[in-house]
Amino acid sequence: MFYKLRVYLRELKKSSEQIKISLKEKKCDDLYYLSKLAKCCHILDKGCYTVPFEKKHSLSIYNEAKRYIEKIDYEKNRNDSCYNWCVKKIKRYEEMQEEMSSPNLYVEPVVYKDSSVFDDFINSFISVRRFSDKTISNDIIKQSIKTAQSASSSCFRQTPRCYAIKSFDLIKKMTPSIAGLTGFSNGVPLLFCITSDLRSYDCVDRDLAYIDSTLFSQNLVLSLRAKNIYSVFLNFQQASKTDISIIKEYLKIPEYEKIIIFIACGYSDYISEKPQRLDFEKVGKIYE
Ligand SMILES: Cc1cc2nc3c(=O)[nH]c(=O)nc-3n(C[C@H](O)[C@H](O)[C@H](O)COP(=O)(O)O)c2cc1C
Repeated sequence: MFYKLRVYLRELKKSSEQIKISLKEKKCDDLYYLSKLAKCCHILDKGCYTVPFEKKHSLSIYNEAKRYIEKIDYEKNRNDSCYNWCVKKIKRYEEMQEEMSSPNLYVEPVVYKDSSVFDDFINSFISVRRFSDKTISNDIIKQSIKTAQSASSSCFRQTPRCYAIKSFDLIKKMTPSIAGLTGFSNGVPLLFCITSDLRSYDCVDRDLAYIDSTLFSQNLVLSLRAKNIYSVFLNFQQASKTDISIIKEYLKIPEYEKIIIFIACGYSDYISEKPQRLDFEKVGKIYE
């Protein structure tokens, strides 16, 4: 009973630390403003697809977006895809204030003929904890992170950050601080640390940090699986304050980022049997 109380108190303290971050004066760099800008442009974009289109809808969001644009260093970001998407959406919003009728903004849907291939692929995902020592190329890592980024994110904030660690020495140094990493007999060729930049969340939506980074992480492991790389998530929620600071120090993670999860990855010939899931009736309900 005493032990449980101590754990609850520790968790309560952790939550208040998160609240402090969301209230603290923010380090307002380009990345922070880009996240805020993306959120505004996402709202303007959604509005442009509303039928019938209402002129002057979200005018305050439009003004907010313009303020963020001014704060972002143009020279450093003019080639950034997201920045350019935002600029395009602001322009579109402005044009639509002048147009007499709403243009058709929809694009051709991509139609898949055989969904079973995708279902089989997703079902082929399995956690693997024994890897061969073959290295994973930086191109594969970059491609997979790009695919991970296509995951949905709350209000398009795009807060997940991804640290890919290939260095044998660094992984060895970090291992004692990541409980889930013990017992990998062949070592880990690639370790991902997934964090969330908490600056763009208000106090009430701080739990979205977990959702956004989890969706990103799931896309990441599926993209790796598509390249025949196996992986396993490693829990970090029970990490002590000391372990969190050790990892943050090694990876130079800023204080406003929260570590959400680790993922160990590698090629493997050691695939175990996939654990069977609960039957449909226990997890799903259809209302007609
Ligand atoms: C949030 C999360 C944390 C996990 N943490 C660990 C971990 O620390 N160590 C580990 O060996 N597996 C970990 N796993 C993997 C689960 O044990 C595994 O997904 C589950 O047993 C189902 O097996 P499967 O992924 O092979 O289908 C974690 C999975 C999730 C989603």
